[in-house]
Amino acid sequence: MKPSINVVLVSLLLLIDVISVCHGGGGGRGGGLSPVFYDKSCPQIERIVRNITWSMVAENSTMAPKLLRMHYHDCFVRGCDASLLLDSIRGNPAEKEAIQNSNIRGYEVIDEIKTRLEEKCPGIVSCADILALVARDAVSYQFGRPMWQVLTGRKDGRVSLSSEASINLPSAGANFTTLNQQFIGLGLNIIDLVALSGAHTIGVAHCAVFQRRLNVTGKGDIDPTLDPEYAEFLRTQCTNPGVAVALDANSSASFDSHYFAGLRQNKGLLRSDAALLTDRRSAYIVRRFEKFPVFMTYFGKSMKKMGSIGVITREEDGGEIRKNCRTIVTSLPGTDHFPGPLHHRVEKFTTEMKKHKVVVTGKIDPQKVLKKLRKKTGKRVEIVVDKEEQPKDASAEGNLTKPNVCPPFFDCFKESEILFMLSDENPNACCIMW
Ligand SMILES: *[C@@H]1O[C@H](CO)[C@@H](O)[C@H](O)[C@H]1NC(C)=O
Ligand SMILES: *[C@@H]1O[C@H](CO)[C@@H](O)[C@H](O)[C@H]1NC(C)=O
Ligand SMILES: *[C@@H]1O[C@H](CO)[C@@H](O)[C@H](O)[C@H]1NC(C)=O
Ligand SMILES: *[C@@H]1O[C@H](CO)[C@@H](O)[C@H](O)[C@H]1NC(C)=O
Ligand SMILES: *[C@@H]1O[C@H](CO)[C@@H](O)[C@H](O)[C@H]1NC(C)=O
Ligand SMILES: *[C@@H]1O[C@H](CO)[C@@H](O)[C@H](O)[C@H]1NC(C)=O
Repeated sequence: MKPSINVVLVSLLLLIDVISVCHGGGGGRGGGLSPVFYDKSCPQIERIVRNITWSMVAENSTMAPKLLRMHYHDCFVRGCDASLLLDSIRGNPAEKEAIQNSNIRGYEVIDEIKTRLEEKCPGIVSCADILALVARDAVSYQFGRPMWQVLTGRKDGRVSLSSEASINLPSAGANFTTLNQQFIGLGLNIIDLVALSGAHTIGVAHCAVFQRRLNVTGKGDIDPTLDPEYAEFLRTQCTNPGVAVALDANSSASFDSHYFAGLRQNKGLLRSDAALLTDRRSAYIVRRFEKFPVFMTYFGKSMKKMGSIGVITREEDGGEIRKNCRTIVTSLPGTDHFPGPLHHRVEKFTTEMKKHKVVVTGKIDPQKVLKKLRKKTGKRVEIVVDKEEQPKDASAEGNLTKPNVCPPFFDCFKESEILFMLSDENPNACCIMW
């Protein structure tokens, strides 16, 4: 097949661990983090990160959820490799440009920490490790001590694509099945899903993200899984889609277990929160997590697990230590690294776990994709061009900005801002923390 077709949809039938593809994973990813990684090379690291993070949170407590959220949004896309921090270059929009990341704040905090660390231990500390430490310290400030151990030794990645962020970040409108599949795909189990959702004990969500629950069919009817009084309260708050509402109604400034108590009273703000009650197992875990020490223990464990998603620990696997968290030091010639020839053209990359399928869409040469996947996975890979879908997708791809369907639970109010999120192309868009 020649690369003459401009937009092709390739379905690959693979019997593989889909994740290793999703994250461009090679052999060295996932393991190799250490509790003593910087003990010799930069013993001051924890103190410096903590000092700056705590100062920021002390000044303004709304920084805590923001800094925590940064680490999530980094790890869920391409693993914890600080890809979120890279600025766009040469017309390639980076992850931070994705609408799901438009409310991410705190880049300047990371910059400040990185500058400080470059003074003390130049060229030693990765931005990915900084993000993991900052997330821990942002939560820990309230307690005056580190609440979990952060393993380090991550290298920074060199690839950052807005399109990947749009696809891989869990949606605030997702149901339990979708959320669970996404988490399983990243090596996280149902306990991790519930524990990490508990991050919503702090922070806010904008009305645009949940407003659909207040007007499910467009007839002013509220989501029946939402407490009616709480729904009325939310209606009075949401005078426009940009208004921010506390995710944990009673105590959004305090990291505690009220989030779970609220959930059980049907006061979970997002559909993805309420979804945790729709599965017997997760509902049980929600109940257990109402006890703060239980929640905190598991939250720490799950953060550690999340912090190891797709990590790069070796230079051979494309990792490096950035000097400035916003830019890569060296691009890798002849590879698919940013702004590489393949990634550059891939517009969409979705995995269908059940069918062992990966769908790659974009201006790509199917044979090249095949070769690459074969090489990366070491598994049998076939092309299954879906003839029915091809024309439909070909037209849709060219006009991502005009979805004609507004799926349930997404809000259509401020079209210009959230259109991409509403796109049929992108049902799993948005974010787990807003
Ligand atoms: C950070 O370090 C400075 C200087 O050593 C100190 O004055 C300040 O209190 C520290 N801040 C925190 C939050 O630990
Ligand atoms: C904290 O930061 C938020 C958003 O950046 C801002 O709206 C708020 O006014 C700040 N609060 C204080 C006390 O400075
Ligand atoms: C969950 O959402 C997905 C994607 O929108 C949908 O395909 C699936 O049918 C939903 N599952 C349930 C049980 O509602
Ligand atoms: C619900 O949505 C419909 C259609 O978008 C709109 O006309 C109506 O005013 C909304 N109702 C409420 C109560 O927001
Ligand atoms: C929130 O606070 C109110 C009043 O203090 C209390 O009645 C309610 O049970 C609390 N809800 C949760 C979820 O803690
Ligand atoms: C998308 O569709 C709209 C109207 O349906 C049209 O005005 C616009 O030019 C299209 N954009 C692209 C990139 O095709």
